[in-house]
Amino acid sequence: MEFQNYINGKWVKGRSTFQTINPANEELVADIAHADVADLEAAVKAARDAFKSWRLTPAPLRGEMLFKVGDILKQKKEELAQLLTRDMGKVIAEARGDVQEAIDMAYFMGGEGRRLLGYTAPVEMPNKFGMAVRDPSGVVGLITPWNFPIAVPSWKIFPALVAGNTIIWKPSPETPAISAAFVKVFEEAGIPAGVFNLIMAPGADVAKALVNHPDVRVLSFTGSTATGRAIAEAAGKLNKKLSLEMGGKNAIIVMDDANMDLVVDASLWAAFGTTGQRCTAASRLIVQSGIASKLKEALVEKTKKLKLGDGLDPTVDVGPVINKIALDRIHNYVQLGKKEGARLLIGGSIASASSASVPNPLATSVHPLESVESKGFFYAPTLFDRVNPGSTLEAEEIFGPVLSIIEVESLEEAIEVNNRSQYGLSTSIFTQDVNRAFTAMRDIATGLVYINHGTTGAEIQFPFGGVRGTGNGHREAGQAALEVFTEWKSIYVDYSGKLQRAQIDNREE
Ligand code: UN1
Repeated sequence: MEFQNYINGKWVKGRSTFQTINPANEELVADIAHADVADLEAAVKAARDAFKSWRLTPAPLRGEMLFKVGDILKQKKEELAQLLTRDMGKVIAEARGDVQEAIDMAYFMGGEGRRLLGYTAPVEMPNKFGMAVRDPSGVVGLITPWNFPIAVPSWKIFPALVAGNTIIWKPSPETPAISAAFVKVFEEAGIPAGVFNLIMAPGADVAKALVNHPDVRVLSFTGSTATGRAIAEAAGKLNKKLSLEMGGKNAIIVMDDANMDLVVDASLWAAFGTTGQRCTAASRLIVQSGIASKLKEALVEKTKKLKLGDGLDPTVDVGPVINKIALDRIHNYVQLGKKEGARLLIGGSIASASSASVPNPLATSVHPLESVESKGFFYAPTLFDRVNPGSTLEAEEIFGPVLSIIEVESLEEAIEVNNRSQYGLSTSIFTQDVNRAFTAMRDIATGLVYINHGTTGAEIQFPFGGVRGTGNGHREAGQAALEVFTEWKSIYVDYSGKLQRAQIDNREE
């Protein structure tokens, strides 16, 4: 099976291919056509040509195209979710959620086709009219990660399209199969040739060519902080608009009065869901000391029961991490954590399917994956406590199933520990005290705040993004996404038939 690039409405072979493998069992998912810089050039040219008519297609009709995409996504939800799990590894329930997020976004942004609101305001001259409208930006370049291979791209693709832009999409080479399958849905919905182009290529050459292309005026990137900063430097020199969504070091704050059972379930979901590979994953648990020891005990008990394995098995709780490099990086962080004096409570090792719940992997398990137990990239869900301020575990984004427990005495201290992170994406607090909840809502300095809910689970109708090292001031999703993909155009209409000089001719003096 081979998936190809999609350029100017056609599926295009590459001069070579690369492979995508299933991280749960290391089996081949598909061969992928490897795009080169010439393919990118062709895609940009197609997008530039298609922009001429797409920008003039009435926005409500562009919106209807999005509704159609939403309808097809609904029909194909299960098929896409299964492919997503094979391509990326997340458990099937989460893969369905990933697709659902795109369905939600399709309908939300489809509706924008009849809004895309600008505004009018009174003007200072008689017989004159003023308004501000949203113009599409032109050809936009989207670079997206593998951890939410459908949801995160949809936060960019749908607002870009409804606003009248044309797209070059470069998804992560870790999840090309599901990316191509996603683009097929747009083809099926009848998207005009050149409006939406897919370029798949490992390595930096093609990505650099996209970032530096003079005809691509807007870039939207979600991924690692190092790559985001490199893109920012290049884009800055070329005066491009750039939306960045990068790292996180998200915390759950637990006050003494919290509902313990809820905290345990929510923390494990936020820390180990998507195997900790979310930019919103909870990786710090900031716990008030009065509840700490009981909470740790309960967390360890439940973590022991988590079942690792192939995400297609609906009884599996935690899937693999994306690849061997990630596995080694996570393990290195764990070693470093131990060296720096943190105490390992559970986990801390490279694992195999189902070995998290069955200490001896050769024991009596009747798990269907027994024969491939040594295959796949599994890491045991890991808990640390006694994590020192300023240590690597406290500060750096690990992007894996590692949760660090930090004890504090008060709400004020908890908020201070939370806010000192170099990142500022998502924070949650568990408390039943309304005064503490409101204080936290006011003082937590992250782009997302949750009360009595983990750090993950953002919905598409609200702005998504973070402060400090997480982003550069832009937001995805919600109507805020339109700010990235439109330019304001202010229009003045003078119907007085004479020269009316602004700021001058309306004064007596
Ligand atoms: C991400 O972590 O990269 O809120 C995106 C959430 C999901 C999206 C996360 N709806 O966790």
